[in-house]
Amino acid sequence: MTAPRMQVTASILDADMGTLARECRRALRAGSDRLHLDVMDGHFVPNITFGPTVIKRLRPVGTQPFDAHLMISEPGRYMDQFIDAGCDTITFHVEVDEPIEPTLLKIRRAGRKAGLAIKPKTPMSALEPYRELLDIVMVMTVEPGFGGQKFIYDAGAKIGPARGYLADPATGEVHVDGGVNRGSAEFCGTLAADVVIAGSILWKPGVDVAHEIRLIKALGDRGHADAVRAGGPTPPHGEWLRFAVLPVAGARGLAARLEAAGIPAIVLEAEHAAVPAQPRGAMEVLIPADDEKVASARFGDELATYGSAAFAAPGAGR
Ligand code: DX5
Ligand code: ZN
Repeated sequence: MTAPRMQVTASILDADMGTLARECRRALRAGSDRLHLDVMDGHFVPNITFGPTVIKRLRPVGTQPFDAHLMISEPGRYMDQFIDAGCDTITFHVEVDEPIEPTLLKIRRAGRKAGLAIKPKTPMSALEPYRELLDIVMVMTVEPGFGGQKFIYDAGAKIGPARGYLADPATGEVHVDGGVNRGSAEFCGTLAADVVIAGSILWKPGVDVAHEIRLIKALGDRGHADAVRAGGPTPPHGEWLRFAVLPVAGARGLAARLEAAGIPAIVLEAEHAAVPAQPRGAMEVLIPADDEKVASARFGDELATYGSAAFAAPGAGR
């Protein structure tokens, strides 16, 4: 298997703020590639979170990059503190009413990556003056301020063009923030998003965070691979469901046969809680919900030959 392309970064906005350091470690141990830190000032957005002091105290939770997302009216005024707090990337909003260029320059001079975030209704052309200075473009796919909102696909259409605004499209990063879930991750992949931010979906009770992160990456990478193969963005497959859980070789074999039959298949490490009888390392094979009938008719008998190691769990991909 090839290494995942898409990175997932956990936003701690909807984590338990009373035990923040523990929540950060939990997300990183579960495979979050970075931490996404949503700073809100109650002015730029109608919500208040935390500032550089808290970020500095969280810094020791891991060596993974800290991505600060500043939803504040005066990023310039506080930038030294965010740099000092140990943020690796610092992204603020193109909509702020103050000079932007000096702040981008300050971030870059400090050896950190500089980014601009863009709200759903702001046209991409707002980024035009800063092309030479952007290491990150963060496409907001919800109105900033709160977690748990629905992904706005019209705003998501900016993901593709966003790369053109990076100082170096090869090393720069396009981030997607807001409403990322199993449904929207594949779409982000088709448009070659580099980093997706996962917030509320990770903090719901009972969620296997590691599995959720693996799933988002797998769906994103599938979207990207399909788009590359097709030479341009492809429509996502919609809902995927868990078709089978198998030992590694069996899962890969089944996926290959599904693909040969024209049914897209994704293989990833299984969700342990959902398959308590499975040894660690069991793999699950996902297929688009639309293909379930055909796949069951064609491969149902074969699944039975795996005995207790295989079962279909329709709906698990939801
Ligand atoms: C919203 C924040 C997001 C938020 C995403 O203003 O910038 O980072 O945590 O949360 P979800 O994934 O729930 O949309
Ligand atoms: Zn954010």
